[in-house]
Amino acid sequence: MPVTAELIDYAVGHGSWPVDEVLADLHEETAALGPVAGMQIGPDQGQLLTLLTRVVDARRAVEVGTFTGYSSLCIARGLAEGGSLLCCDVSDEWTALARRAWDRAGLADRIELRLAPALETLRALPTEPHIDLAFIDADKGGYVDYWNELAPRVRPGGLLLADNVLWSGTIMDPAVTDANAVALRAFNDVVAADDRVEVAVLVAFDGLTIARKR
Ligand SMILES: C[S@@+](CC[C@H](N)C(=O)[O-])C[C@H]1O[C@@H](n2cnc3c(N)ncnc32)[C@H](O)[C@@H]1O
Repeated sequence: MPVTAELIDYAVGHGSWPVDEVLADLHEETAALGPVAGMQIGPDQGQLLTLLTRVVDARRAVEVGTFTGYSSLCIARGLAEGGSLLCCDVSDEWTALARRAWDRAGLADRIELRLAPALETLRALPTEPHIDLAFIDADKGGYVDYWNELAPRVRPGGLLLADNVLWSGTIMDPAVTDANAVALRAFNDVVAADDRVEVAVLVAFDGLTIARKR
């Protein structure tokens, strides 16, 4: 199936969460940043994040890699009453756009941003299983470490999600040996061998791992 922009618009138009003004403006503001805008998830993936957040009735969610805030808005809008999202990022500049969008969307009171290397933030979290949903979308070299910190903290039935795991379809091409591809291969192998979770890898977007804690 050729995934065109028109097909994505059609799919999103038939989902429950339209691209509202805040998301549309954020998409435009992010595009104006140049090629880094490619790091932003698309509206179809955003809807899936909202849906999954609702499926697990998430009250406590964690995002590793917030950038300008698109995915955080999609998770935050799916949270249960009284729920909260902890966002981890290192960029003051990019997350300034996220903060503005959270305010505009009326979601700022549900979101806490910690500007620090995500590994430090995750290690400082309570160690008991209290997280309902975690979304990993930061530096690829950190994925295994983020997984190792998050997996024990996600409650049974909760979800661990990881983005970009098929790396533009090059993940199984041995000729592709850049550090990100190598790190993502290692990550995918770690997840596949982890008995604590049940896993499906979606051949959609840039590859999305969906793992349910047993
Ligand atoms: C792919 S972008 C996230 C995209 C975002 N989820 C979205 O949908 O718009 C990756 C983000 O990870 C952040 N990042 C990179 N290394 C990090 C680290 N060690 N700790 C926390 N955040 C990091 C970058 O600043 C960047 O904003």
